[in-house]
Amino acid sequence: MFELDMRPGKQEFEPGKVTDTWGFNGDYLGPTLRAKRGEKVRVQVRNGLDQASTVHWHGMHLPAAMDGGPHQMVEPGATWTPEWTVDQPAATLWYHPHPHGATESHVRRGLAGMFLLDDDAASALPLPHTYGVDDLPLIVQDVKFQGNRFASGRGMFADVGFLGDRTMVNGTLAPFRTVGDELVRLRLLNASTARIYSFGFSDGRTFALIGTDGGLLERPADLNHVQLSPGERAEIVVRMRPGERVVLRSDRVDAGLDFWGQRFNGGDDTFDVLELRAAGTLRPSPRLPGALVAPQTAKAADSVRERDFELELGKINGRAMVMDRVDATVERGSTEIWTVHNRDGMPHNFHVHDVQFGVVEVNGKRPGAALSGPKDTVFLAPDDTVKLVLRFDGPADPNTPYMFHCHLLWHEDLGMMGQFVVVEPGGQAGQPTTPHAHSGH
Ligand code: C2O
Ligand code: CU
Ligand code: CU
Repeated sequence: MFELDMRPGKQEFEPGKVTDTWGFNGDYLGPTLRAKRGEKVRVQVRNGLDQASTVHWHGMHLPAAMDGGPHQMVEPGATWTPEWTVDQPAATLWYHPHPHGATESHVRRGLAGMFLLDDDAASALPLPHTYGVDDLPLIVQDVKFQGNRFASGRGMFADVGFLGDRTMVNGTLAPFRTVGDELVRLRLLNASTARIYSFGFSDGRTFALIGTDGGLLERPADLNHVQLSPGERAEIVVRMRPGERVVLRSDRVDAGLDFWGQRFNGGDDTFDVLELRAAGTLRPSPRLPGALVAPQTAKAADSVRERDFELELGKINGRAMVMDRVDATVERGSTEIWTVHNRDGMPHNFHVHDVQFGVVEVNGKRPGAALSGPKDTVFLAPDDTVKLVLRFDGPADPNTPYMFHCHLLWHEDLGMMGQFVVVEPGGQAGQPTTPHAHSGH
């Protein structure tokens, strides 16, 4: 049983400058939750804010009524206690509010945390796994301070949404971290509302990508950059040399934009994200295994149905989100191909609740290593088309929808979101219930 209290707070991010914040169980961000495959999880969510909100378990496979989307609103002063059994591979997931039309401001004020899942297969691998020692969660956000609050304004030509001028890791500005192991695992989460990062190291060194949104890859892939759009995660392992300092940076982003689009959407911005300072002597780490886990996503050949999703600002397939309209009905146990097209001159991404999908194609080609693992959120540059394979393992609940949406949160709030329900084979979608307050204790 976990307890999460959403509450207003104050945090001194810089000496002498106090900022109004929101947090879970504290002033800013929330505790890392951790559970193992097969475990039963129960979370008591209490809303101590002055407005209704929700808590969504991003990347989690769970019954729709436990998902914490816009249909599971928690009124101020109320408590909501979802429970489910963890039934998916080890992964780096996260949680954040999801009230329809207000997700951007609730996340930006500080409501976000990590939710790590473990399983026997991953625990048996010789990967760095000592939390806070050689296995570090990194919640990356961009912020801008304005008096005693976080700025929220969108630049006039910024199609993506709010862009900050500084980055924080786990709520800390200009962070550094001393490490004592040869190999260090970083669990990167882009918890920004709009900014796209391209993570790499100051000296250009390669690192091993070992996991994507929903879990480990089949084998580590050597890269020197990994790009993450809002909501995406990557697990990387970097090799340290005794006594050195190296900076995890975010470099110029390749978002497929023209000169001005690139500039106004933050694509040219570079940031120092986290300095790693290696101890003079490092504990030896076991070599990274050549193979990690068996492929975990569905096979395109099993697909029984194809659907198309056209993205444009504020709309999916020409329509903005409506709470009581079901946009897609899928059968429990079936596999589908979803083809997503970005019809806009601006970047978007596409996130699907409940499912970890495989990326089959990007613009007609097989994607590279960074998209080879289980994903729940995928980036689309202007005019991109991605083909995804998804298996819906249910439980069926014809009346309670899951969401799919752009995870650039301003876009989501504008209505760039739709709903699907999982039904028994041959079943029909029901009528989504109007959100009601969860009250009582
Ligand atoms: Cu991380 Cu529907 O969201
Ligand atoms: Cu989600
Ligand atoms: Cu978008």
